[in-house]
Amino acid sequence: MAEFALPKNSKIQKGKHFAAKEGAKNIKKFAIYRYNPDQKKADGTPENPRLDTFEVDMDSCAPMVLDALIKIKDETDSSLTFRRSCREGICGSCAMNIDGTNTLACLKPIDEVKGDVKIYPLPHMPVVKDLVPDMNHFYAQYESIQPWLQTVSPDPQGKERLQSPDDRAKLDGLYECILCACCSTSCPSYWWNSDRYLGPAILLHAYRWIIDSRDEMTGERLEDLEDPFKLYRCHTIMNCAKTCPKGLNPAKAIAEIKKLMVERKL
Ligand code: SF4
Ligand code: F3S
Ligand code: FES
Repeated sequence: MAEFALPKNSKIQKGKHFAAKEGAKNIKKFAIYRYNPDQKKADGTPENPRLDTFEVDMDSCAPMVLDALIKIKDETDSSLTFRRSCREGICGSCAMNIDGTNTLACLKPIDEVKGDVKIYPLPHMPVVKDLVPDMNHFYAQYESIQPWLQTVSPDPQGKERLQSPDDRAKLDGLYECILCACCSTSCPSYWWNSDRYLGPAILLHAYRWIIDSRDEMTGERLEDLEDPFKLYRCHTIMNCAKTCPKGLNPAKAIAEIKKLMVERKL
């Protein structure tokens, strides 16, 4: 599996070691990225990130990486910071880099990792604290594609806007995206151009609205993406499709948008 680059502030030093409770027989080690911008050096700049090691007794730990993180936070170091909510791959908030791959901690079985479990925040994102990346720019990019149904025709009073089963099926493989950002933060083009390239997650959503038969702003949506950076910085590297924990294929959605761009010029 692809090894991804480390988070932006990645001068990482060796951190603390937390041993398991005495008598634990089935121990797994978790090496976890720690960064706290409020911890300052003598010159007032934030301390470098560090990698803390936690020994976890697997005989009293549930099977997923998120379970281990919660156990560490509950029993060993309450300052360990990470996002999570649903614990079943729906909310997208526990996305992080585990064993070199971006994925969801709640869906990643610990026993799939050989050796120590290395956990970092999503790569190439500013880090707020520990495993929490700053998602503001990602969400602003999401907002920029206007991810809602837009129409010009009058509302069908008191009725839904209908869609044929075939048109509805075109949304399969798109509507399931949970905006976890695993794909965008695995994409080298996004690493280097995230200020202007929208990245695979946002482009997948852009396509979701372009292809929706009920939306009446298709031309405007395509026009907005006609830009050397927003769309065309995808160089078909394919990390996005390999890493998506929901099994989606943002690269295919991007290719479909590029096809529509050509068709509208003919
Ligand atoms: Fe996450 Fe997959 Fe959506 Fe990308 S396409 S944001 S990896 S669910
Ligand atoms: Fe990046 Fe996926 Fe394109 S990894 S370059 S968005 S195919
Ligand atoms: Fe919701 Fe993992 S906690 S996706």
